[in-house]
Amino acid sequence: MDRFIIEGGKTLKGKLKAGGSKNASLPIMAASLMAEGETILHNCPDVVDVRYMMKVLSYLGADVSMKGNTLRIKVPGKIKNTAPYDLVRKMRASYYVLGALIGKQKSAVLSLPGGCAIGERPIDLHIKGFKSLGCNVVLKHGYVYVKCKKLKANEIYLEGKFGTSMGATINVLMAAVFAKGKTIIKGAALEPEIADVASFLNRMGADIKGLDTPILEINGIDKLEPTEYTILSDRIESGTLLAAASITGGELTLSNTNPEQYSEVLNKFTEIGDSVQIDGNTIYLKGSKQKKSVEIDIMPYPYFPTDMQAQFMSILIKANGISTITENVFTKRFMHIPELKRMGADIELRDNTAIIKGVKKLSGAPVMASDLRASAALVLAGLVADGETEVKRIYHIDRGYEHIEKKLRKIGAHIRRYKK
Ligand code: UD1
Repeated sequence: MDRFIIEGGKTLKGKLKAGGSKNASLPIMAASLMAEGETILHNCPDVVDVRYMMKVLSYLGADVSMKGNTLRIKVPGKIKNTAPYDLVRKMRASYYVLGALIGKQKSAVLSLPGGCAIGERPIDLHIKGFKSLGCNVVLKHGYVYVKCKKLKANEIYLEGKFGTSMGATINVLMAAVFAKGKTIIKGAALEPEIADVASFLNRMGADIKGLDTPILEINGIDKLEPTEYTILSDRIESGTLLAAASITGGELTLSNTNPEQYSEVLNKFTEIGDSVQIDGNTIYLKGSKQKKSVEIDIMPYPYFPTDMQAQFMSILIKANGISTITENVFTKRFMHIPELKRMGADIELRDNTAIIKGVKKLSGAPVMASDLRASAALVLAGLVADGETEVKRIYHIDRGYEHIEKKLRKIGAHIRRYKK
């Protein structure tokens, strides 16, 4: 299993280009199944989750290839409708094929996605949406079976007890594209990746209105045509790269990014004392040497994203005074805390609030990555720890960051990948 060795204490400085969004690529890849013919996707990150989704699409019958950051997906008229356990167990986002298959073939069978290191992850809202569109949904033997004679447009309220759901919004949106009549999704999640999926579907011929609002209106159509599309840039990768510059008190000019899509994160950089300048799709960040403590409330978009929670925790470990982070989206997403404490962090967890007392220094240690964003947090902590930090199980980070060690090395980090 690959691991990183990081020698801490280097101040990062330089220029980088943000990559394409993983969380937009995965549903857009699934949505491309809905049109017969060849769809071409540009700006797709070459990360392990995208490679998994390529395998899922190939299994279902598509011909998928990737060259650089361009994906070609050739879809035949009829494809399989079942995605078995061994194929989907490694990636929850495989559930996006449900919406696409229901839309295209009116039936889908998927191994139920389980929980994961960041806590329980139900799919009740997805199921509620499919049922509202007239589907029969049965859960048995670890699989979800969805079938309908005809998709019927409906008015659907999709918000759940943890707030809006990005996955459910996208899945139901895809299924509704072919439902006869006008479907209204209320309580739709607002993450920018959803509007990217909707723009892609519209480019293929769908009629979706209300992009970037909590009410989506979908007028059913009969057929989608394949298209060529450029995926938006990854706001979480962008935030993580800026965090690397910030934590080391360094400087980064980041291009090809969409600052308006993570303004809450940029505001926090300013609040902790960093300087942030925006010029169109480029951000310049200069990190302060001593951070101020802050309070962060994690909530669905447009608030501070759960996918940047762990990275900001690493930044706050050495801040002046006491900071708090309250996680309201995945209330148990704190697997990184014990590892950060092994490096010298002073963090106490009370329910879903982490209380971070600023310490003077961190010391390098062997640590274990538990999930995608937690691994990014450990890498960030390693950048400012005394001596050497070994981050094990970095396959987690490879799921969502394209060559992160190369990008960090380019701006001065001492980080190496070892194969064993
Ligand atoms: C997506 C992102 C993930 C991000 C998360 C929240 C992808 C591949 N993943 O995950 O990186 O951390 O959004 O921004 O894009 N919920 C229910 N019932 C459901 C579905 C969700 O109660 O049927 C709850 C979840 O447990 C969670 C909250 O709703 O507490 C938000 O989850 P959701 O937005 O659905 O996350 P994902 O789409 O799975």
